[in-house]
Amino acid sequence: MIENGETYLIMGLLDPDSIAFAIGEKISKMGGKVIYTIQNERMKRLLFDRNKKLPKEEKEKLEIRFCDITIEEDLEKLFSNIDSLAGIVHSIAYVNPKTGLGENFHTDAIEDLKNGFHISSISLASVARHALSSLKKPSSIVTLTFDTKHVYPYYNWMGVNKAALEAVVRGLARHHGQDLIRVNAISAGPLSTKAATNIPGFNHLGQTWNRTSPIPWDTEKDREEVANAALFLLGNYSKKITGQVLYVDGGASIIGGLLTPHEQA
Ligand SMILES: NC(=O)c1ccc[n+]([C@@H]2O[C@H](COP(=O)([O-])OP(=O)(O)OC[C@H]3O[C@@H](n4cnc5c(N)ncnc54)[C@H](O)[C@@H]3O)[C@@H](O)[C@H]2O)c1
Repeated sequence: MIENGETYLIMGLLDPDSIAFAIGEKISKMGGKVIYTIQNERMKRLLFDRNKKLPKEEKEKLEIRFCDITIEEDLEKLFSNIDSLAGIVHSIAYVNPKTGLGENFHTDAIEDLKNGFHISSISLASVARHALSSLKKPSSIVTLTFDTKHVYPYYNWMGVNKAALEAVVRGLARHHGQDLIRVNAISAGPLSTKAATNIPGFNHLGQTWNRTSPIPWDTEKDREEVANAALFLLGNYSKKITGQVLYVDGGASIIGGLLTPHEQA
């Protein structure tokens, strides 16, 4: 799994509910060194520092850098003084909820959609491009996606971005195989994080999972299971896996229709 003393860059920390934090915590417990990125100092002050879930002393122990994924200089600066990375987690997505999510799929806010595509899909390739000389050979990049086999209500343009992200995963996996850099995605079931609660109708998604997931799904606790899968994909038990989407969703994405009463736990 995680190699003792190896360094992992975990991008996309917002607060202690972030999937990024669950993954980083687990890596630290297993003896890995973790560097987190937060989008910018303002976000850290407003959302991370003020959050009461984690004691101040614990927060101060974390190594945190800043990186807005749409700013090339931020990426250059980040990777200019990081080397020998065993892995990177890209746990970043955004689309303007007013225009890219909600009841109406149609929107004329094209600039919002382009920005969402940049942050949620293209940015994985930007990270790989900038990180190339900081990554060990072999090493592993993992990103987070959401079921692209089905069309969910409200998820509109983020669904489009996730489909593109999965295509970026495959493109990068093909391109960087020669560098012994693996690139994979985890398709997680719904989890209560800041990004998720920005989705209008997030509760609807949670309820859908109650009715479709053969293994019961917990929108709070199962971030641990997503983190476990990330550690598998980062570590050396997955050496020959690349370009894949690993579903960690209780099985909901394979179900046609709803579970019948005799199938429910
Ligand atoms: N929570 C879920 O239900 C769920 C399910 C499947 C996949 N995911 C994916 O997991 C990933 C992490 O989301 P999360 O649920 O932990 O929520 P989160 O809100 O904690 O994390 C989203 C992160 O994206 C960052 N971000 C947005 N724009 C950025 C930019 N321009 N530059 C740098 N960072 C930027 C935010 O600052 C935040 O840290 C996302 O890709 C999300 O789509 C989430």
